[in-house]
Amino acid sequence: MTAPAGVPDGAPDRGEPLLRAADLVAGYLPGVNILNGCDLDLYPGELIGIIGPNGAGKSTLLKALFGLVTIRSGSVTLGGETITNLRADALVHRGVGFVPQNNNVFPSLTIEENLQMGAFQRPRAFAQRFDAIVDLFPTLGDRRKQRAGSLSGGERQMVAMARALMMEPSVLLLDEPSAGLSPVRQDETFLRTRRINKTGVSIIMVEQNARRCLQICDRGYVLDQGRNAYTATGRELMNDPKVIELYLGTLATDVEDAERSGKPA
Ligand SMILES: Nc1ncnc2c1ncn2[C@@H]1O[C@H](COP(=O)(O)OP(=O)(O)O)[C@@H](O)[C@H]1O
Ligand SMILES: [Mg+2]
Repeated sequence: MTAPAGVPDGAPDRGEPLLRAADLVAGYLPGVNILNGCDLDLYPGELIGIIGPNGAGKSTLLKALFGLVTIRSGSVTLGGETITNLRADALVHRGVGFVPQNNNVFPSLTIEENLQMGAFQRPRAFAQRFDAIVDLFPTLGDRRKQRAGSLSGGERQMVAMARALMMEPSVLLLDEPSAGLSPVRQDETFLRTRRINKTGVSIIMVEQNARRCLQICDRGYVLDQGRNAYTATGRELMNDPKVIELYLGTLATDVEDAERSGKPA
């Protein structure tokens, strides 16, 4: 689906997308579609953000890409090869990583054991990957023997991301990585996501914290009722009056507050 008139879709001129989802229809219950013809392109090296109201189908889209919700029609390709409805373990093998929003660590296992679970398809690569991960998440190295269940929300989120990175994915799917974290920890999560992206991992990030997400992503998709509503660069979406009015209510409020107090938003 193309963006509404006047909204450039901002797709980079970089040849073929690494991951392409075309016209996806998917759902949980027979006869009830949650995704209604959703499109998404992820170009190599991109960080893209998916925002939209609660219940829009953002998590369903990530789950469909990761083989956890059956795609009823439409297709997903990775590097030009069809991966529609492949199982999650096959997708991990092909370089796709997924960090769900909830229950994304094994609480009774230590940090190190959680990361071993992430590398179970390549146990011999564990030590080398562990070192690379600790570079990105120094806290995890210091606390490797601590049980994940005793960690704070922000630390668990790190373990979940680190576990997904153990298999050196080329594509990482993140479902609301900042959810439930304090503002400071949220900010760290966004910066870390950007850093992971800069190491060469292409990322699709779903976020409730829409403004912050659009600030750091290359391109954003607004999903509404299982369809693309708007697609553009993060900056274009943030400045689009319709997007602000319909989806970034908090941004409009922030801007008004800032204008009243004379400070920049
Ligand atoms: N496991 C499920 N079984 C049935 N319906 C579901 C399930 N998970 C989500 N849904 C429904 O799918 C719709 C979209 O949900 P979701 O993808 O979680 O939205 P979002 O992540 O955008 O908030 C909602 O109406 C939700 O009730
Ligand atoms: Mg969700």
